[in-house]
Amino acid sequence: EPASPHRPMRVVLAAPRGFCAGVRRAIDAVSDAIERHGPPVYVRRAIVHNLAVVRELEAKGAIFVQEVDEVPAGAVLILSAHGVSRSIANDAEDGGRRVIDATCPLVAKVHREVVRHHRDGRHVILIGHADHPEIEGTLGQLPGDAASVISTQGDVAALTFPAETRVAFAVQTTFSVEEAAGIADALKTRFADLAGPNGSDICYATSNRQAALRAIVPQVDAIVVVGESFSSNANRLVEVAAAQGCASVQLVAGPEDLDWSAFQAAASIGVTAAASTPESSVTAVLQSLRDRFALLVEEVGSPIESIYFRPVQVA
Ligand code: F3S
Repeated sequence: EPASPHRPMRVVLAAPRGFCAGVRRAIDAVSDAIERHGPPVYVRRAIVHNLAVVRELEAKGAIFVQEVDEVPAGAVLILSAHGVSRSIANDAEDGGRRVIDATCPLVAKVHREVVRHHRDGRHVILIGHADHPEIEGTLGQLPGDAASVISTQGDVAALTFPAETRVAFAVQTTFSVEEAAGIADALKTRFADLAGPNGSDICYATSNRQAALRAIVPQVDAIVVVGESFSSNANRLVEVAAAQGCASVQLVAGPEDLDWSAFQAAASIGVTAAASTPESSVTAVLQSLRDRFALLVEEVGSPIESIYFRPVQVA
């Protein structure tokens, strides 16, 4: 074989990466609903935070809307994996729409937790990003003043409740594991009567992807996270790599976003993907790297995740 004209580049793929069980289940719900009911089916907001996924489902006959009032009476309406508030769930049911709820079971579990804490008479402190749909949906399980959203340890100091207030906390499923632990510790110091989750609300997929990335950072010169700029878990992966000491981290939706200058001095690149990113986007990034470098690809970690959710009922 002729020698490759390109210089060698080691690529370390983090495992696991990409689709989680909740994302697969939500995407399948849309495809199944189209098959069962025929197009179009309506989906409120991005079913998962990935535009390639959205376009593929549009091609099959899904129509994505911002709000439920854009969906005609009698139509099939699917609610996205991030979950919705009680009032949006109720509005969706009104007008004789057929509502299919693709909320991830692990988000639904957090919904039930915060409702239980509220019934126990506790003020709920949600550790998460206030503008993210998951947090809007979780907040929307409770009356307006029953919960507060915080996202940093500094926010704990700024809470004005007396130290003896009965409080409980819950965490956005895609938050940073390490940051959530720091904030929870600050809450424990601040409040004597604090209830919280057994284990963590951060889901298995988020923790596994962050841990897998943390493990490869010391082995590479640069990190590429494949995911959307508006995906929470993608942004947390970027932060995890930076916090782990990687000096060159980039978030790309696909090969067109790659910043090639970042690889000029690199001999190795680590690649991971958000829980909402299809493997086809990772493959496209690798192909683009292969066009410029003589790639030596290896996968590090364990791709096996045995979590399975029953499919959404679309009948
Ligand atoms: Fe669910 Fe976690 Fe995926 S909450 S949608 S399994 S990122």
